[in-house]
Amino acid sequence: MRGRFITLEGGEGAGKSTQARRLADALAAQGLPVLRTREPGGAPGAEAVRDVLLGAGPWDGVAECMLHFAARREHVARSITPALAAGIWVVCDRFADSTLAYQCFGQGVPRAVWDGLAEIALDGLRPDLTLVLDLAPEEGLARAAARGETNRYERMGLGFHARVRDGFRAIAAAEPARCTVLDATDTPEGVAAAILATVRSRLSPS
Ligand code: TYD
Repeated sequence: MRGRFITLEGGEGAGKSTQARRLADALAAQGLPVLRTREPGGAPGAEAVRDVLLGAGPWDGVAECMLHFAARREHVARSITPALAAGIWVVCDRFADSTLAYQCFGQGVPRAVWDGLAEIALDGLRPDLTLVLDLAPEEGLARAAARGETNRYERMGLGFHARVRDGFRAIAAAEPARCTVLDATDTPEGVAAAILATVRSRLSPS
């Protein structure tokens, strides 16, 4: 049986990486085969593109979208699709919704660019479930800054990050069957419990 594809999305400092780890561990503890991965990255070529995206800039917005989708194509073709076909559950820290929120809502790239690139790069692949960790950008950026070194996106300013948050909320509102918005101000334990409850009710892992 095909595995399930779960993505975690949200702004900076929302705790996606921690929650991806917890969810992957919880599913594995149930005896399910699990691949935990992330974007940009998740395959050798995609990790190389990640270094370019997080380091150098500024980019033309369309070029930046193309780089994210080039990395994503590698990730999908080499890691995600083969894993799902082998019955492995994939837990992914960011996916295509991040490009829509950051590049389109945040940076003003037209939606049609995203639509075209998604059509070319994804072969129809869509997450079975997307967990959006929602947090005020002021708090998220403070959490990210407290972690130490910041990347290029984290330095983009409050207005940008407010548009990104609005973007994720709009994406979730437009696709309620796929997306759930969770309050990321809760404790890590509380968020993890909410995620597991959502996964159990929506995907019923055995
Ligand atoms: P990362 O250090 O993984 O940040 P986070 O812990 O917040 O996920 O860096 C990824 C950065 O790349 C993050 O700031 C969001 C940005 N990004 C985009 O702008 N577009 C995308 O499509 C993706 C996948 C990430």
